[in-house]
Amino acid sequence: MKRTRSIAILSGGGDCPGTNAVIRAVAKKAIIQFGMEVIGIEDGYEGLIHRRWRKLHYADVSGILTIGGTILGTSNKSDPYRYAIGEGKKLHFRDVSKTVIANIKKLGVECLVCIGGDGTLFVSNKFYKEGVPIVAVPKTIDNDLRGTDVTFGFDTAVSIATEAIDRVHTTAQSHHRVMIVEVMGRIAGWLALYSGVAGGGDIILIPEIPYNIESIVRKVKDRNRMGKRFSIVVVSEGAKPIGGNVVVRQIVKNSPEQVRLGGISFVLGDQIERATCIETRQVVLGHLQRGGTPTPTDRVLATRLGTKAVELIEARQFGYMAAVKGNDITAVTIEEAAKGPRNVPVEHPLITSARAVGTCFGD
Ligand code: F6P
Repeated sequence: MKRTRSIAILSGGGDCPGTNAVIRAVAKKAIIQFGMEVIGIEDGYEGLIHRRWRKLHYADVSGILTIGGTILGTSNKSDPYRYAIGEGKKLHFRDVSKTVIANIKKLGVECLVCIGGDGTLFVSNKFYKEGVPIVAVPKTIDNDLRGTDVTFGFDTAVSIATEAIDRVHTTAQSHHRVMIVEVMGRIAGWLALYSGVAGGGDIILIPEIPYNIESIVRKVKDRNRMGKRFSIVVVSEGAKPIGGNVVVRQIVKNSPEQVRLGGISFVLGDQIERATCIETRQVVLGHLQRGGTPTPTDRVLATRLGTKAVELIEARQFGYMAAVKGNDITAVTIEEAAKGPRNVPVEHPLITSARAVGTCFGD
C-alpha cells in the first residue's frame, strides 16, 4: 500500500503578522495538491524537544489568513543546540539536538518547514547539515534577514508604526512639542527608516548611522525658527550616539539572543528637552508592531512564500528558503539567510530620498 506523504511545520522566534497566512498556504497546498498529511509542531523547536505536535486538518488552517500571531505558538528561547534548563543560579545549557533529530525521525515526515528569522534559521541550517530535510520561509518584522529583499510581517509593522507616527503628529502640532516614536528592529533600522519616511518624520535615527545629539537639537531649533513649532523624531530601538552604546532594556538569560533593546527615546527626550527648552514626550511602540492582522501586502507575500516552500519540497530542494528578489519569489540557501542580520546600507536610495526632502539622520 502506498504510504501517505507527510510534512511538518514550525514557527520559531518572535511572532509576526502573516505567520498564520504562511501556515495556511503551506498546509492547503500540501493537502489539496499532493494529499499530504501535515503536522503542526507547537512552539517552534520547543515542540520537537518535548514531542508536542498535532495533525493539521484542512479545517484547522481554513479561516486563519487574517489572524495575527501563530496558531502553532512560537518561542525565541529554544535553541536545541544550547537549550536552557532551570532558572536563576540553577540555569544551565544542554545540547538536546539529538533528541530533536530522533523525534523528527519518529514523526516520519519527508520535510520540516521552518518559518523563522535569523535565529531560527541558524538552528535550522545546523539540523539540515546533520541530514534533516528542511525548507524555510523568511519571517520577521525587522526585515533584517539575508538572502531576501523583504520578509513577511515587515509591511504590517511599518503600517502600524506609520499610523502611530501620524497620530502623534497631530498632538505634537497642537502642543508645540517634540514627539519621539521608538520603533523595534533590533540592530537594523529598516522599520524606523520606512515608517519614518512614510510618516514624514523630521528626524530619523537608525543603528546604521550613529547620531550626534547636536545635529538633532539644531534640526529642532531650525524648524522652530521656520515657524514649525513641533518636531517628530522616529528612533530605532537600536540607535546609538557616535562613539556610544545602545540602550539595553532587559537581559533574557535563557534566550539565545539575550539582549532586549529599548528606552533610547527616554534618553533622547531628556537631552532634546534640556537643549531646546521645548517640551518633549515619547511613545515606545513595542509589541504593538507585532500584533494583529497582517496587511494585504503581507497576506499576499505570505501566500506566495508558503506555496513556494511546498514547491521546494516537491523539487526536493532541501536546505533552501523561499525568498523575494525584485518581483519574483525564488530560492536561496538557508545557509545564506542564516549568516547574520542584514543592515540598512548607509547609501540606501530611501535614505538619499529622505535627505533630499530635508530629513535629518542625526549625522
Ligand atoms: O525580532 C523581532 C523583535 O520584535 C525585535 O524587533 C525586538 O527587538 C525583539 O523581537 C523583542 O523581543 P521580545 O519579544 O523577546 O521582547
